[in-house]
Amino acid sequence: MIGSKGARQHQAARWWVKAVGAAICALGAGMAAAAGSAVKAAPAGSTDYTGDVVYHLLTDRFVDGNPANNPPVPLSSKDCQLTLLYCGGDWEGVVQVIKTGYFNDLGVTALLLTVPYENVPMVVEEQGAGYHGYWPRDMKRPNPAFGTMDEFRRLVQVAHAHGLKVMIDIITNHGSPVRPEDPRFAENGALYDDGRLLATYASDKTGLYNRYGEADYSSAEDVIYKSLYDLADFNHQHPVIDRYMKEMVRLWLDTGIDGLRVDTVKHVSLGWQRTWMETVYRHRPVFAAGEWYMPRDELQPLGFVFANDSGMSVLDFPLSQKVRQVFRYRERDLFELDRMVAETARRYRRPLDQVVFIDNHDMNRATLSHSAEHRRLVDQALAFVLTSRGVPMLFYGTEHYTLGAGHAPINRPMMRSFERDTPAFKLIKRLADLRRENPALRYGDQVGRWVSAEAYVYERRFHGNSVLVAINRSQKAAAEVPALRTGLGCHEGQPARHDDVLAQRFGGHAITVDCEGGVAPFRLAPGAIAVWSQRDSAPNDPSRTPAPGHVGPPLAWPGTEVTISGTHFGPHKDVVWIGNTRLQGSAILSWSDEQIRLRLPAMPAGQHAVKVGRGEQLSEPLGGLEVVGEPLVSLRLVVDEAEVAPGEEVHAELAPQAPCNAERRVWGPMYNKIVHRYPSWYMDISAPAGCRVAVRFFKKKPDAAAAVWESGEPHRADMPAGGTGTLRVRLRGWQPGTTAAVAR
Ligand code: NOJ
Ligand code: CA
Repeated sequence: MIGSKGARQHQAARWWVKAVGAAICALGAGMAAAAGSAVKAAPAGSTDYTGDVVYHLLTDRFVDGNPANNPPVPLSSKDCQLTLLYCGGDWEGVVQVIKTGYFNDLGVTALLLTVPYENVPMVVEEQGAGYHGYWPRDMKRPNPAFGTMDEFRRLVQVAHAHGLKVMIDIITNHGSPVRPEDPRFAENGALYDDGRLLATYASDKTGLYNRYGEADYSSAEDVIYKSLYDLADFNHQHPVIDRYMKEMVRLWLDTGIDGLRVDTVKHVSLGWQRTWMETVYRHRPVFAAGEWYMPRDELQPLGFVFANDSGMSVLDFPLSQKVRQVFRYRERDLFELDRMVAETARRYRRPLDQVVFIDNHDMNRATLSHSAEHRRLVDQALAFVLTSRGVPMLFYGTEHYTLGAGHAPINRPMMRSFERDTPAFKLIKRLADLRRENPALRYGDQVGRWVSAEAYVYERRFHGNSVLVAINRSQKAAAEVPALRTGLGCHEGQPARHDDVLAQRFGGHAITVDCEGGVAPFRLAPGAIAVWSQRDSAPNDPSRTPAPGHVGPPLAWPGTEVTISGTHFGPHKDVVWIGNTRLQGSAILSWSDEQIRLRLPAMPAGQHAVKVGRGEQLSEPLGGLEVVGEPLVSLRLVVDEAEVAPGEEVHAELAPQAPCNAERRVWGPMYNKIVHRYPSWYMDISAPAGCRVAVRFFKKKPDAAAAVWESGEPHRADMPAGGTGTLRVRLRGWQPGTTAAVAR
């Protein structure tokens, strides 16, 4: 393996210069067929992924469509024998697979591809090459091992023509590996701006990089301002980095992509990332989900704060880890899965937008062995994420039960088969289609109907639509399911038979439901998966109440195009309420029974609920839309001489002054160990650009209900008009006595 001690870091010749032409490599016989199923073009620029299934693939490990762009030895490895090196996969290979109809036949509707940037063109000592994309040197240029910018654009076009959205993995946190004491190590974290060197770690005189050592994960502050492993950590408050990161995301958005998986969001300030998401939504509103990693059995409160406040969703590690614990490791029972569904739904402001998965490139693959038992557990985990709330994301090869018990790179083999016949493949297809067919799977809440240690019956329901799922993890004993109530209905006043959507291929069976939604006790076979579905029987009934299920983008400004999707809106333009603002007429751009597009008028900043009116009917409110009245800037807020008692923390309240249209916000707890030290406290926050704000600090113990406020008049300051800025003040002292703590 190249990772052995004797491996030499090697500056390769500029190998990509040679990688010209698109040598078309013949694909395996199994892939030769043209697209089998009819496909629709993917909608452009949508933030709604509730009906999608994402297929996550590593570009380098998929298909080598163009051997001419393969990096030379020692960067690459023939036949992928040295798995820390490039193996040849590229965008042309993905295009070839798209054209065979493989993804359409599988039923997935979005592809997530490896970080596309140019990475360091060398073998980094003991670590291999940047085949994974996480060692960027130039975020504005494509990785030549994957193809040219034109080839990437072509991939997006071909994907769209096949009804597939394209997401990319994207990083703002870091560059390539550095050893601070050895400037000759690798590329010394060099950052290029479309070919122009901005700085290296050693030559950086103005603070583009954070230089506080390697993170030990002891606190939020530690992971933001120290470096992850040895990766050159960027200072997002530096105007050059701020501008660069916003320019580069616009550049990639301009290729027509539909979504972002944002790497390492835990390691960058929430405040700056809100400003970055504003850039994304203003430029081209696409779905974005951040990687806020949480290990098994950890519910990190800040991860939920991030999911609710950053403007992007997250990869739902808490729920996904639980799915793995239940079906892969079998170390938790189904009661726990049921509890985690409820717990995460309670904590996320927008549960439907969080991404749920069973494995990825940083984990043991879901399939433990090729035994029938382990394969069935994978089928069950797949069935769960494909019917659960949230956006399902599958990892390439899981449809063939690819093994990979071991972390990277063992879990990242080359895609070897394009077989379309496995049980998992068929299960994915059927349930992915069902997600689009039945609005219950897109927008419905999720309730447990019956659970035991080994079996779980749950339901998704949305206004007359229902999907009931039953899974028996035990492959030895049947589960005796007692009488249930469901949202599945009867037919013309008589009990109705509901067939298993999976056609009994996974041990399921039909059930009969009476007119009260009652199902008689039934026996669920060992290892069974059964799914029963019912669509609204009167979707065009004008007396039905409109039902909004999703609104996006999550952060919006006056002038933003907002899309509301759901059911029963009716055929004609009517009325929409956003908070207390009533919209009709020309503010509404289009209206159909399932989708409304509107232009957001001027309205007060804040969290708003959306309601849709149809004649006399007014929908229930749907929350989750944050209106930000003013553009955002990233501000480093510092308060000096803020002494506190042991265990107390300092928070800041920012109250924008009229005529600024921005919400009062509370930020904290502030930090005091790395960039500035106690008794100074600091935090990188987002603030309304160009506004005058009144800033006051308060201190309290972490769980205390009461706070002590700063004395005297608030600090008043004008926020920068754009980019980033710093506000540094001295505490005026603490008021004697306590007052009630302010909510976030
Ligand atoms: C998270 C990615 O998923 C992982 O594979 C990568 O090594 C780190 N971030 C650093 O970019
Ligand atoms: Ca190649």
